[in-house]
Amino acid sequence: MREFDGYLQGLTKDKRTVSTSERKARLLRDGFGKKPAFRCIIAREDTKPIGYLCYHEGYDPDEMRGKVIYVIDLFVTSSARGSGIGRMLMDRVADVCANMDGIAVYVGVWRRNPKAIKFYMGIGAEFVEDVPFMRWGKERWL
Ligand SMILES: CC(C)(COP(=O)(O)OP(=O)(O)OC[C@H]1O[C@@H](n2cnc3c(N)ncnc32)[C@H](O)[C@@H]1OP(=O)(O)O)[C@@H](O)C(=O)NCCC(=O)NCCS
Repeated sequence: MREFDGYLQGLTKDKRTVSTSERKARLLRDGFGKKPAFRCIIAREDTKPIGYLCYHEGYDPDEMRGKVIYVIDLFVTSSARGSGIGRMLMDRVADVCANMDGIAVYVGVWRRNPKAIKFYMGIGAEFVEDVPFMRWGKERWL
């Protein structure tokens, strides 16, 4: 995750506003407690982690109606890229979705990350053109 963080920081000029230690503490609290907010699949070579995918479950109330999975992180360490690990992690999460009788896997991807967009398009994903993602942060709640 640290390596992925560095990768994403390389794609933007924006600086993080929350410290690394606080972000780590939040991650441990939210992902590894009694009721994890997300789950992870880890790819290993022998015992060494070489990639991971984190996801959580959701529901799509639109036309199809059904359970969905949101991928929130996908990362393969640079030395292991191009050998099928990313596709394998996506295949595994598709299995998770199929096993819960889900209908789709969603993933948010930065426009400034064209390589990832090519990867997702390559495995058959498509843009949700007419549904821009909106954020309503707690700093704006009345
Ligand atoms: C995107 C990422 C996960 C892909 O993982 P990977 O293990 O290198 O991908 P794979 O080897 O499984 O490739 C699967 C397919 O995608 C294609 N692909 C992968 N990267 C690609 C790229 N940059 N451009 C075009 N096609 C690409 C491969 O050619 C392969 O096609 P094939 O099955 O027809 O041969 C990896 O490059 C990565 O971790 N990038 C940095 C983090 C990142 O951007 N994550 C996504 C955030 S939303």
